[in-house]
Amino acid sequence: MRRPFIAGNWKMHKTVPQALELVEELRGLVEGEQGVEIAVAPPFVALHPVAQVLRSSVIKLAAQDCFWEEEGAYTGEVSPVMLADVGCAYCIVGHSERRCIFGETSEGVARKARALLNHGISPIVCVGETLEERDRGEALHVVGEQLGGSLASLSAEDMVRVVIAYEPVWAIGTGRTATPQQAQEMHAFIRRWVVEKFGGDVASGLTILYGGSVKPENIRGLMAMDDIDGALVGGASLRATSFAQIVQGGKG
Ligand code: PGA
Repeated sequence: MRRPFIAGNWKMHKTVPQALELVEELRGLVEGEQGVEIAVAPPFVALHPVAQVLRSSVIKLAAQDCFWEEEGAYTGEVSPVMLADVGCAYCIVGHSERRCIFGETSEGVARKARALLNHGISPIVCVGETLEERDRGEALHVVGEQLGGSLASLSAEDMVRVVIAYEPVWAIGTGRTATPQQAQEMHAFIRRWVVEKFGGDVASGLTILYGGSVKPENIRGLMAMDDIDGALVGGASLRATSFAQIVQGGKG
């Protein structure tokens, strides 16, 4: 069976001292956990110091974004080589904040995913519709397009190392979570899409996270759904106690 996976996306929060304080406290709370994959995604400048604290920890390190080139004249960008060097096991790509605020396209997401895989980092590929798209009845279509654009050039072998996160834009940071049924409907759609493109074995092993206002109070209901394998947690990952409670809930 798929191993539950709880990842914390710190977004643009925490200075280095604050990041160290958070991860040290978190380590104390979840270090003994087994049977659940745990990762945190601090801002770039905190990756290296946080990695030092996480040495020999069960908590894995993730980045929030990357560029697809290995090095060069790309002012402001960070490459997968650099992320691998500081010990990132995962990297979020195509988060809706990147797509909506910074104009990221699925084509860019595909290039980033390819580059990350080339350097041994598992991409956490985010997809999700806006409220207007959902209200127009286009949610499945939009997510299908994002999946096609972001993943279609990967092989089945690559896909084994990819994580998908379904994050409806209207549920992110709004306190308005998708119901477990709404999330399950989309997760099942995503898994069917993967069956068609990459086959049943890849699809049945694929980890699909839900993201959008996940909290200690709603994680169990979400995890009870067949196709929800974990959570990508924003706001509630900024406090060690709430994130640790979500990890507990994620374990079932
Ligand atoms: P949220 O963010 O938990 O604060 O809604 C989730 C995300 O954007 O990954």
